[in-house]
Amino acid sequence: SGLVIAMDGPSGSGKSSVSRGVARALGLRYLDTGAMYRAMTWWMLREGVDLTDPAAVAARCGEPELVAGTDPDGPTIHVDGIDVAGPIREADVTGAVSAVAAVPEVRARLVARQREIIGAGGIVVEGRDIGSVVCPDAPVKIYLTASAEARARRRSAELTGSSVDDQQAAMARRDALDSTRKADPLLMADGAIELDTTALSLEEVIGEVLSLVAK
Ligand code: ADP
Ligand code: CDP
Repeated sequence: SGLVIAMDGPSGSGKSSVSRGVARALGLRYLDTGAMYRAMTWWMLREGVDLTDPAAVAARCGEPELVAGTDPDGPTIHVDGIDVAGPIREADVTGAVSAVAAVPEVRARLVARQREIIGAGGIVVEGRDIGSVVCPDAPVKIYLTASAEARARRRSAELTGSSVDDQQAAMARRDALDSTRKADPLLMADGAIELDTTALSLEEVIGEVLSLVAK
């Protein structure tokens, strides 16, 4: 089908888990655009690019070849043929990704790749600018939120050895950078429906989205 579901929101709001569940339930593909920004960041760190210099990041961002697999049961991400699914979740990448994602040339390149992958649709796409920039015509746009504490609790439950407080501080920093950057900041897109997941289970959120799609 040509359906596109756009799923945006801050870190830990549940975008990945909800998007994969919805894609599975509807037989759609799934694209994690955050993994592409993380993969670009992993490559920049490996190359030793000075991430405090946006011109240096812009000058190099056309070099890495990014390939994102769209099976919701096993999404994959490769840079120049290297499987980076593990390394892109490490703290060094997480701490640097917002600076790389703020560079307009990086966004232009990745948005173009994302639109190639989305093609004629049949996909759930998650990120920060999907409903606003990547797929402004998507018939279903969801903006997931949850309290800062709930989001930090969820993320620290996934990562061993990280306290809720440390997690909450790191997420607040990244959300502030993502929301205040000049290029395509995180915001609620026109036509998006906000879903606060603080008091809901994952299954309940997936059910809510499926009922919105059915409308
Ligand atoms: P994001 O992609 O927005 O960063 P994730 O889906 O990666 O969020 O992380 C959410 C984590 O919180 C997952 O481990 C998920 O199982 C858990 N979780 C708990 N309750 C919920 C809920 N109501 N909605 C979404 N995720 C939830
Ligand atoms: O998993 P989490 O929600 O913590 O982050 P992510 O979705 O993997 O995204 C990592 C980072 O990539 C975000 O903090 C943004 O800086 C950037 N990003 C973006 O700018 N635009 C997108 N469409 C997706 C991610």
